[in-house]
Amino acid sequence: MFEYAPAPESRDIVDIRPSYGLFINGEWVEPQSEERHKTVNPATEEVLAEVAWAGEADVDRAVQAAAKAFPVWSALPGAERAKYLFRIARIIQERSRELAVLETLDNGKPIRESRDVDLPLVAAHFFYYAGWADKLAYAGFGPDPRPLGVAGQVIPWNFPLLMLAWKIAPALACGNTVVLKPAETTPLTALAFADICRQADLPPGVVNIVTGAGATGAALVNHPGVDKVAFTGSTEVGRLIARGLAGTRKKLTLELGGKAANIVFEDAPLDQAVEGIVNGIFFNQGHVCCAGSRLLVQESIADELLEALKRRLGTLRLGDPLDKNTDIGAINSAEQLAKIRELSEAGEAEGAERWSPPCPIPDRGYWFPPTVFTGVAQSHRIAREEIFGPVLSVLTFRTPAEAVEKANNTPYGLSAGVWTEKGSLMLWMASRLRAGVVWSNTFNRFDPASPFGGYKESGYGREGGRHGLEAYLAV
Ligand code: NAI
Ligand code: MG
Repeated sequence: MFEYAPAPESRDIVDIRPSYGLFINGEWVEPQSEERHKTVNPATEEVLAEVAWAGEADVDRAVQAAAKAFPVWSALPGAERAKYLFRIARIIQERSRELAVLETLDNGKPIRESRDVDLPLVAAHFFYYAGWADKLAYAGFGPDPRPLGVAGQVIPWNFPLLMLAWKIAPALACGNTVVLKPAETTPLTALAFADICRQADLPPGVVNIVTGAGATGAALVNHPGVDKVAFTGSTEVGRLIARGLAGTRKKLTLELGGKAANIVFEDAPLDQAVEGIVNGIFFNQGHVCCAGSRLLVQESIADELLEALKRRLGTLRLGDPLDKNTDIGAINSAEQLAKIRELSEAGEAEGAERWSPPCPIPDRGYWFPPTVFTGVAQSHRIAREEIFGPVLSVLTFRTPAEAVEKANNTPYGLSAGVWTEKGSLMLWMASRLRAGVVWSNTFNRFDPASPFGGYKESGYGREGGRHGLEAYLAV
C-alpha cells in the first residue's frame, strides 16, 4: 500500500470577514438585535467569523423589504427573471472553487464533495429553474400561474448552499421574493450568496438573508407578512411549524428526516452494491436526510457482503476536510456529535454489535469514525431513529415481501435503494416501498429535474423538477 501525501486545497481563495450584518433590501445592514455568535470550523474549532442573530424587528424589516420588492419582481416578464437566474448560475460556476472551500470550512464536509457534488448541483439548480421562468404557462398549472408573494425559507446545515439553491431558485423563477434563514452553524455560504445577488444586480429586496438560530426561524415563519413557508430540517421543528401555521392562509412545504432502507438482493452486483452502501451512509458524514442508514441484506449473502463492506471501509480516509484525498470529514457541531454518540451507545446497550475500522481521529474538532452495527433488531433505537451520522444499521431478510415490510416499518418515507439485476423485482419493490424516491442500483443521486420529497413524517411537498414549481405558485 502506498501512503498518500497531504494534498490540501488552499484556503487563500476565500475572504471571510470578521463580522457580518444582515442582507436586507440589497444592502448589508446592522441588526437591531445585539446578539452575535461565532461560527467555527468543525474540523479545528477555529473561529471563522461572527454573525448576527436577527431578532423580530430585524426579521420584520426583511419581510417588509421582500414585500416591497414583490410587485416589481412578479411583474417582470419571465424571460427577464430568467436572465437574473442565469446570471446567478454563471457567477456560482465562476466562483465555485471559492464557494466549495468556504462550504468545507464552515460545514466540515470533504472538499471532494463540496467541489464535485454540492457546487455543481447548486449551479445546475439555478440553471434548471432559470429555464422554467419564461415557460410557466406550459408547466401544467394553467395559462397564467401566479406567484404567492413573500417566501420565508428556513434551511439546515448539512448542505447549506445546496439547500439555499433548492429554496431560492424555484421561488424566484415563479416570481416570488424571499427571506431566507440559514442554519446557525453554517451561515457563511448564504452570506457569500448575498454578495452574488449584488454582483448579479438582482433588484433590492428580491432576496434577503437573515442569520440566527431557532428563534429567528420562528419569527420568520410566523411573520404575518409571509405568504409561503418552506422548511428543511428536523421532524420535531417541522411539526412545530405545521402547528403554528395551521389555520393561516400560508402555504407550507416540509422536508424532514428519514431512515431509509438500502436493500440488497442476492443477485445484486456486490462490488457496486458495496460502493452504493458506502455512498448511501458515509457521504457527507451521514448528515443526509435521505441517507441509506438501514442496510437490508438478503440472508444468503449477508456474510459475504459484510466482509466486502468492512474491507472497503478500511480504505476510507478520515481527516482534514480540505485535503483532496479525504473521504470522511468532520461532524458539523458538538451537539450533533453528542447525538451520534448517544444513539451509538444505545445501539450497544440494546445488544447490537458495533464495528469500526481502525481509524486515527484528529485531536481537535468533532469527529466520528465510520461505524457499522450488526445484529440489529427492528425495535432498536438505531433501527428507528434518525442518527444523522456515519452509522449504518444492518438487518437481514429472506423474501422480497419481508424486505418491503421491514423497509416500510418506519415513521419516515423519504428514500430507498434497491439492488438487484432483475428488472421485474425492481419494479415490484418500487411500487410497494413507501418512499418519495426509490433508487435503482444506485444511491444518493440527485438531479434538478427530478422531484424530491417525502411521505409520512418525512414531510410533504416536492422540491426539484416541474413538481417543485407548484410549491411557489397559487395553484
Ligand atoms: P433543526 O430542525 O432544529 O434546524 C433546522 C433549521 O431550523 C435551522 O436553520 C434552525 O435554526 C431552524 N429552526 C430551529 N427551530 C426552529 C423553529 N422553532 N422555527 C423555525 N426554525 C427553526 O435541526 P438541528 O437541531 O440542527 O438538528 C437536530 C436533528 O434534526 C439532527 O440530528 C437530525 O437528525 C435532524 N435534521 C434533519 C435534517 C434533514 O435534512 N432531514 C436537517 C437537519 C437536522
Ligand atoms: Mg434544533
